[in-house]
Amino acid sequence: MRIDIVTLFPEMFAGPFDASIIARAREAGVLEIAVHNPRDYTHDRHHVVDDYAYGGGPGMVMKPEPLFECVDAVRAMASPPGKVVLLTPQGRLLDHDIVAGLAREERLVVLCGHYEGVDERVREGLADDEISIGDYVLSGGEPAAIVLVDAVARQQPGVLGSEASLEEESHAQGLLEYPQYTRPPEYRGMAVPEVLLSGHHAEIAKWRRRQSILRTAARRPDLLARAALTPEERRLLDEARGGP
Ligand code: ADE
Repeated sequence: MRIDIVTLFPEMFAGPFDASIIARAREAGVLEIAVHNPRDYTHDRHHVVDDYAYGGGPGMVMKPEPLFECVDAVRAMASPPGKVVLLTPQGRLLDHDIVAGLAREERLVVLCGHYEGVDERVREGLADDEISIGDYVLSGGEPAAIVLVDAVARQQPGVLGSEASLEEESHAQGLLEYPQYTRPPEYRGMAVPEVLLSGHHAEIAKWRRRQSILRTAARRPDLLARAALTPEERRLLDEARGGP
């Protein structure tokens, strides 16, 4: 997969893309990342990329021309031209299903907005999709792009240690992850649950599944509506809720 990032601050990506999972994906050759600056696609002496908002109001707006010209050039650099994703607090809220969908694309072009926003014609005529990473406003799309690339990178085949870890992960099954422990068996008076030390794999799997369900019910009940639960697991939930 190839991801092209269009940003006024390419230097923000140097650290995050050179460490951990993203670096591993790049080294394994399953992810190629290129970063481009729309400022390089301006034609005036001062390389202006923003301007005052028509109609007045505070803050500057990103001009359409450098973004359109940059994205046109970037899309022509490789094939396929790639879906253009604009990062903005007005976009679809990112979740596991959106990540899994984007991870299946051969190529993405990710646009990072800045200042008070981007000229509306960028949404209209350039972006195929708009994504938000949460209901809060960042000072730019860059941290959101790092989040998106990380989430997409770990979905690429061969990036994680074992394929099983992807399937077991929090959210992959619509549930939060079960509690995890490593050595020592007791620390500061807190003991690892007995069943995990038992070596009894079926019992451990049962315990983990139950913990996932109960934890999701307690912390993120909104997720449960879409989780695939057996009738027995639904009964467990009703019991935990004190009904019916
Ligand atoms: N740019 C500014 N805030 C953002 C957010 N919450 N998600 C994506 N891009 C953004």
